[in-house]
Formats: sequence, C-alpha cells, structure tokens
Amino acid sequence: MQLECIECGSKFKINERFYTCPKCGGLLEVEFEPSELKRKLNRKRLRAEPPSVWKYHTFMPILDESKIVSLGEGGTPLYRCDRLAREVGVQELYVKFEGGNPTGSFKDRGMTVGVTKALELGARTVACASTGNTSASLAAYAAKAGLGCVVLLPRGKVALGKLAQTLVYGARTIAIKGNFDQALALVRKICEERKDIYLLNSLNPFRLQGQKSIGFEIADQLGWKVPDRVVVPMGNCANIWAIYKGFIEFDAVGLTRGIPVMMGIQAEGAKPIVDAIKGGLDKFKPVKKPETIATAIRIGNPVNGPKAIRAIRRSKGTAEAVSDKEIIKAQKLMARLEGIGVEPASASTIAGLKKLVRGGAIKRDECVVCVATGHILKDPEEAIRVSEHPREVPAKYR
Ligand code: F0G
Repeated sequence: MQLECIECGSKFKINERFYTCPKCGGLLEVEFEPSELKRKLNRKRLRAEPPSVWKYHTFMPILDESKIVSLGEGGTPLYRCDRLAREVGVQELYVKFEGGNPTGSFKDRGMTVGVTKALELGARTVACASTGNTSASLAAYAAKAGLGCVVLLPRGKVALGKLAQTLVYGARTIAIKGNFDQALALVRKICEERKDIYLLNSLNPFRLQGQKSIGFEIADQLGWKVPDRVVVPMGNCANIWAIYKGFIEFDAVGLTRGIPVMMGIQAEGAKPIVDAIKGGLDKFKPVKKPETIATAIRIGNPVNGPKAIRAIRRSKGTAEAVSDKEIIKAQKLMARLEGIGVEPASASTIAGLKKLVRGGAIKRDECVVCVATGHILKDPEEAIRVSEHPREVPAKYR
C-alpha cells in the first residue's frame, strides 16, 4: 500500500501528509498491491456480512484500526426501480440511495476514513471548503473524534439542511464572499501554512478510499456482479473516480469480473468536464461563474477533474449535461414513482440517464445504477419551491 501520483507516477509512503504530489503537483492515489489484498481477504466473511464501509476494511489505508471513527456509514439501500426504469426506457434500473448515510450523503463514507487518518497523523483540527454536504459530514465526524473543525462555505449558496447540520455539529463556520472554487483555494492555502490543520477536501487521497465502498456495495448488493453502467453526478469530480477505483480493486482481487462504464453528469451551468469529454480534450477549461439549482455541484474548477476524465475514458464512458428544468423533473419522478427523496444534484443522474437513453448512448437492455448522492431534506427550500403548494381551507368538514 503506497501513495502514487497519477501524473508522474512518483511513489510515497502511505503515512505522508501530502495532498498533492510534492514533485509535480499532480493528484495522489492510494495504490494497493493486489497480491497483498488477496492474501488478507477473508472471502467467507465478505460474503456473510451485511454491507458497510468497514466491512471492506482490507481495502482501506488505515494502519491502526483502534482509531476508527464511525457513525455507522455505508450499507445504504440499492433500490430496484421498475416504474422509473419504464419511464426512462431501460430494462433494469437501480438507485443507490446515499441519503441513507448518517448525515444524509455519501460524504460520510469518505469522512470515516479521512477523520480516522487525521487521528493517525496526529492532527488536532480538520478543515474543508464545501457546497454543504462535505462540511456537514466533516463537522459530525470531527465532533465524534473530538477534533476541532473549520469549514469555509460560499456565502448564501449553501442549502439550508446542510448549513443547519454544519452549525449544530459545532464546526467553526466561515462564509466566504465568493464561490466554492474560491473557498477551496483559500482553505488549501490555510492548510499549507498551518501544518496543525488537516485538509479533508476530496483532494485528500485517504478520504476517497472510503468512497470506493459505493462501488464495492453496488457489486456486493447485486450478488457480486457489476452493472453495465454507473451514473454519477460530478461536482469537484472525486466521487466518480472513487467508485471506479472500487470496481477496479474488486476486479483485481477476483471478487467480481469487469468494470462498469462510468457516466458522469453535470449541470448545464457548471459543465467543464462534459465539455472536455465531448471535445476529446485531456485538460478541461474552468467555468468562471458556475450556476445551477443543484448547489452541491455548482463548481466551475473541479480539482479532481483529471481523475474524473481518466475514470470516464478508461471505462469507455461519457459525460452529459442536464438543465435545471430536467433536474427538477427527475427529482419529482424519483419521488413520485419510487418514493425516493433526493436533492437536485442526485436527481441529475436520472435526468442524464433519460437523455443518454433517448440519444442512443445507453441501450434499453442494459443494467444501470444511478448514484443518488444526497437526501431530499438537505435542500428543503428548493423542494418546496418546485412543488405544488398546499391548499389552505378552514378547519371544518363541510
Ligand atoms: N452530489 C452531492 C449531493 C454532493 O454534495 C456532491 C459534492 C456531489 C454530488 C459531487 O461529488 O464533488 O465528488 O464530484 N459536494 C461537495 C461538497 C463539493 O462540498 O459537499 P464530487
């Protein structure tokens, strides 16, 4: 197990506190030796235990398991959605409902590993910039671990549920007069200067290891099979890579066979990766003023863009952009056909799937999994705004 730069291939010890490659500035990834994993795997236990992040502990870069900080993350439902499948036009459709995590988003999978690593490295304070879910999750795990927590948020652009969580869990919360991209640039500078503050944005290679478990769980819940496609919303662009890596590692140790085609979805007003993929480019051009109702993915300069482009290209996938109108429609479809309540960023997957099926990029006989990354209660204001309002009547029967 070691850290490896995805750009120049330099290798580093696993307990280094780097966020990016000290040689070339490239993104880092934790790489395991398949033979080492195979030796440690307890296949019988893997098949018997219910899904959870720590069920897959062999694949996690934690050296001291006594330090694990857990709120019971992972083990979220994989709903089979036949009514929604008919609506979008595929035969077999599943929604991986990440709203079922302790703080209502997939971020908890990363934070249980990231905050545990922070303890292993001796950090006293953890920090992040966030569109809201990362901060809610980090604040909760920092509280559980007894660590200080500082979060930088774009002022006035964070959905209320997420802000409420961040504040109540006790994070020191700073509202930046700027967007997420600016908040992230600031917190990176703070963590470079202040070695006592540990950065837990998705640049952090350890945090992403926990998010691999979405891929593990999908395969596990499908009876150790991989779907044809996995559709993921992209903001800062780390999750699609993490899920892809999960499938790669299961394949490498022989638990499953093959890799699903990875499909990344962005909002029309924040789609630098869609443009790069469709334009056949290796580098993306940042969007200066990202705008979308899906505030979670309102990001113009995704730091993990190079990882997302690799995951999509290597799996022979593609990327698609959807409008706010399509997102709202999909959010209601998920709620009204399947009883699944998600925030707008998550609904972008169903909107994207519909578009890709219509355009012929996804065939009707495929098995597709959409990753619904966050709970509907994260953004109650948007949910109310786009819904029919209650009818007011006097409090009498006739
Ligand atoms: N869906 C939700 C609900 C999110 O909160 C995020 C990211 C994404 C999708 C995109 O994931 O960044 O790995 O591509 N939210 C971050 C945050 C940026 O601060 O909570 P990604």
